[in-house]
Amino acid sequence: IQFLVIHNDASLEHAILLVDLKNVFSMQLPNMPKEYIVKLVMDPRHRSLLLLRPRPGVKTTKQPSESALEYEVVGGITWRPFYAQRFGEVAFCAVSSSDQVKGYGTRLMNRLKEILKDEAKENPAHTITHLLTYADNNAVGYFSKQGFSKDILLERERWYGFIKDYDGGTLMDCCLDNRIPYTDFPS
Ligand code: ACO
Repeated sequence: IQFLVIHNDASLEHAILLVDLKNVFSMQLPNMPKEYIVKLVMDPRHRSLLLLRPRPGVKTTKQPSESALEYEVVGGITWRPFYAQRFGEVAFCAVSSSDQVKGYGTRLMNRLKEILKDEAKENPAHTITHLLTYADNNAVGYFSKQGFSKDILLERERWYGFIKDYDGGTLMDCCLDNRIPYTDFPS
């Protein structure tokens, strides 16, 4: 199992991995229009964290960024950073059905928080203090366990109008703190 952060940067290997991730999202989020998922996953402003493993029976020779077809996408998170507002919107988060409830969803979210912390350390202009998401009602439990709350502590003027309102979703907020180690365990 390995993690990789990519976006649509005109690399063919990344495009292959993003299409695979889009397929995981479409399978796991059947009520979300497929065209909308493609639009956001392929939008160059969105970032995606992928959870990958070698395809069954394949002995990998290269890293996923060099040989995408050797790997399968187990799950991922697509988010859009709004650096000027210092928040990120989690657009999609999913794990393939046969791999759910094994802890991968938790590892993905912890890894994302750690990535955002590292990015802020490298470039303070990229500091993100909150993650917002419109959680599907059946995913509210998962997001609550990841530190998201229905109480939106982020000031309204920092997010209102920047993210789209979804019918049937519950807006949830997670405060990030650069003093917290989010992946202080083998991942
Ligand atoms: N409702 C309530 N609790 C849940 C749910 C759920 N739907 N899914 C997982 N959990 C709980 C688990 O029981 C576990 O609890 P525990 O720590 O007490 O054991 C905890 O959340 C974490 O479980 P993981 O195994 O880490 O999570 P998993 O790998 O299954 O990933 C995810 C969770 C991403 C929600 C996955 O189940 C999934 O892909 N679901 C379908 C797609 C989906 O609903 N995605 C979110 C839509 S909203 C959005 O994308 C913005």
